[in-house]
Amino acid sequence: MELQFKRHRRLRSSASMRSLVRENHLKAEDFIYPLFIYEGDNIRKEVSSMPGVYQVSMDHLEAEMEDIVAHGIKSVLLFGIPKTKDACGEQAYHDHGIVQVATRFIKEKFPEIIVVADTCLCEYTSHGHCGVVEGEKVLNDQSLELLVKTAIAQAEAGADIIAPSNMMDGFVAAIRAGLDEAGFTEIPIMSYAVKYASAFYGPFREAAEGAPQFGDRKTYQMDPANRMEAFREAESDVEEGADFLIVKPGMPYLDIVRDMKNTFNLPIVIYNVSGEYAMVKAAAQNGWIDEKNTVLEMLMGMKRAGADLIITYAAKDAVRWLREDQ
Ligand code: PBG
Repeated sequence: MELQFKRHRRLRSSASMRSLVRENHLKAEDFIYPLFIYEGDNIRKEVSSMPGVYQVSMDHLEAEMEDIVAHGIKSVLLFGIPKTKDACGEQAYHDHGIVQVATRFIKEKFPEIIVVADTCLCEYTSHGHCGVVEGEKVLNDQSLELLVKTAIAQAEAGADIIAPSNMMDGFVAAIRAGLDEAGFTEIPIMSYAVKYASAFYGPFREAAEGAPQFGDRKTYQMDPANRMEAFREAESDVEEGADFLIVKPGMPYLDIVRDMKNTFNLPIVIYNVSGEYAMVKAAAQNGWIDEKNTVLEMLMGMKRAGADLIITYAAKDAVRWLREDQ
């Protein structure tokens, strides 16, 4: 009997053959590296739940940036940990707020590096919510005003991209109008368009010291069960003038990434969040998985799902490993 079947293995026969037909590639330009800038002196503290990730004060920033540049990473995403917090998160939009100070420093010393500023209030508010609160309620429209002020302060400091992560309704429209009015028509908005209320943010809340002091973020971040809601969120952000769309977290939401890629003609960004990073680190430290191959496979999965860019704490490791393999 003559068997009829296809020989798919022909294209897998050697490393050279596999590389010839490889459909997706990872490169240093794909990555955005998050940085936690701590207001104070002489601080370089490893985040216990995120080995390899440090909170750094300004006096350690130059060395950190040199290391990032040496790795070939082209862009950073800045988070600030201020000395003081208050109900309205004033340090987020103050001219001398830590993110503004760090942005000015980076743009002066490393002008070729793209600085993305995370526009949110949760690291700066005493209650740890992403907007202003009344009782236990997070107020939408009142928060917009402060977020616009934050975005303008970040642009004035020299941020190249504004990345609002707060999930208030209308934040893209408000920030776009505010930036334009202040003369920053050229500054793009990388919107956290599709941001789920996720348990995977746990380690970040240690790193950024921005855990909510009461309740949770479920009245503004999305329900992990929902897909149609992602289209609604992204549609309105596109209408309001977003230049990039972020889907967050990454790994458990690759279906949504593909949906967004197929639907919208904007660069799609994945945020490979803290919990995803921590899981791999913990398993690798136990000797349970091979860290390098696991991380590269995860990142490749994100590109294959449709991500044009990946925000990841593993950026330095990834570019080092990619270079090793060349
Ligand atoms: C702030 C913000 C969060 C993250 C990025 N920006 C935390 C949150 O929304 O609770 C999470 C990033 C990560 O887990 O790596 N709103």
